[in-house]
Amino acid sequence: MPARIISGTEIASQIREEIRKEVAYLKEKYQVIPGLVTIIVGKNPASVSYVTAKQKTAHELGFYSVQENMEENISEEALLNVIMKYNGDPLVHGILVQLPLPAHINESKVLYTINPEKDVDGFHPVNIGRLMIGDARFYPCTPYGIQQLLIRSNIRIEGAEVVVVGRSNIVGKPIAMMLCQKAKGANATVTICHTGTKDLSFHTRHADILIVAAGKPKSITADMVKDGATVIDVGVNRIGVTPEGKARLCGDVDFEGVKEKASAITPVPGGVGPMTITMLMLNTIKAAKLTRRLQG
Ligand code: GUN
Repeated sequence: MPARIISGTEIASQIREEIRKEVAYLKEKYQVIPGLVTIIVGKNPASVSYVTAKQKTAHELGFYSVQENMEENISEEALLNVIMKYNGDPLVHGILVQLPLPAHINESKVLYTINPEKDVDGFHPVNIGRLMIGDARFYPCTPYGIQQLLIRSNIRIEGAEVVVVGRSNIVGKPIAMMLCQKAKGANATVTICHTGTKDLSFHTRHADILIVAAGKPKSITADMVKDGATVIDVGVNRIGVTPEGKARLCGDVDFEGVKEKASAITPVPGGVGPMTITMLMLNTIKAAKLTRRLQG
């Protein structure tokens, strides 16, 4: 039987309804409007489309939102000054610098400059450290979205064999760390595979939950997947243009083949992508409460 499709679009829209209620509550009770600034350097088409989608969602949900478009050749010092300006701006609760950055800018220096209480991406070392010791403040948005997709689709994480393909700081490492915590919606046995893994399919074939963030189109095929597994595809690969002029996307998983083997699978687009943006909004609300020292 073909797999159940886990719709990130539907689950994200449920969470957005919850966010709308929370925004109304914060406004009425505390006169607080969650504020998000997104900073983009240069005009990388994928980055521009992500940041535009983030801004659009923030706007639709009634946030105060600002987009800073910086020239590709902006100096590192000028970028750090912009971040510090927003660190001190009481209307801004969340600061996101879209990655990747041009080669002349030190990414770590930029991420370390963001006030950890406004780090809605969860990339600051303080927040990564807190995540690792099981005292997370902000979960990075894509891993947070993946965990919510699993929980809200009633996929059992506790005790599951989880295999993560990819060890990026944005997805692979944080999702592995989140799912192995001794906590609800976690407590799994987690394996991380990467380009140094000797026999990838040996590992993937043992996964009850297979999370693929490898950055290689259709690299996971049906023969690499256990019968009845849940497959989460984080890949977003541009493989051409649709007749309507939009980017044609595919994931890191061979969807057509794998859906015949898995019991549940996320599509691309419409799977993890919409969740990532929604979790950024949830983190911004959390940051608003944190920086204003609000309860609840
Ligand atoms: N580039 C790709 N994914 C992300 C993300 O989640 N946050 C930021 N800031 N940049 C990214």
